[in-house]
Amino acid sequence: MTLRDNSVITTILSRRSIRKFCSDAVPPEMRDLLLECAFAAPSAHNRRPCHFIVLEDRAALDALAEVHDSGKMLFQAPLAIAVCAETASYPEGDLAWVEDCSAALENILVAAKGLGLEGVWLKVMGRHPRNERVRPVLGVPESVEIVGIAALGFGAEEKPPYEGIRVDRVHNNLW
Ligand SMILES: Cc1cc2nc3c(=O)[nH]c(=O)nc-3n(C[C@H](O)[C@H](O)[C@H](O)COP(=O)(O)O)c2cc1C
Repeated sequence: MTLRDNSVITTILSRRSIRKFCSDAVPPEMRDLLLECAFAAPSAHNRRPCHFIVLEDRAALDALAEVHDSGKMLFQAPLAIAVCAETASYPEGDLAWVEDCSAALENILVAAKGLGLEGVWLKVMGRHPRNERVRPVLGVPESVEIVGIAALGFGAEEKPPYEGIRVDRVHNNLW
């Protein structure tokens, strides 16, 4: 038994971006657990800006796939969760909602892996004209930012887990 023999560590290291999915639906109890994990993410000043749009209808997923130029796996994925930020409570120039929603999105991907699902993060925010194309399809008001989308499902491809540290990227006490 080593420190690595730990389900959290194994799940984090084996999470990869999977873009091919089986047609099997994600059970509702798994979907709800993913959302619970998303809501458990930390947020600056505990502002908790995240809203989640859950897409399970084939027509809705296909419509999103049409407008997201790097999201064609959504034609296959049975589930997508768009992570959106209500930014009104943040002071002018405070972009912590990006970090807050990113933490939630990563929680979704790691939790998915832990449940035997796979997924991939799809960028939306700050990406012109993707952002403008995705917004009306998801019906998101202008006051809300779409930080990213997790495309999710049971995987139909495998990728090796990560291991090791890049020592040239680790600085001790000082850069
Ligand atoms: C902020 C962010 C945006 C991303 N956007 C996309 C995207 O739009 N489409 C896509 O296929 N993958 C996207 N990815 C997934 C990356 O391509 C992937 O994480 C990277 O290639 C490393 O692979 P891995 O996730 O298997 O470690 C995104 C990842 C992050 C963190």
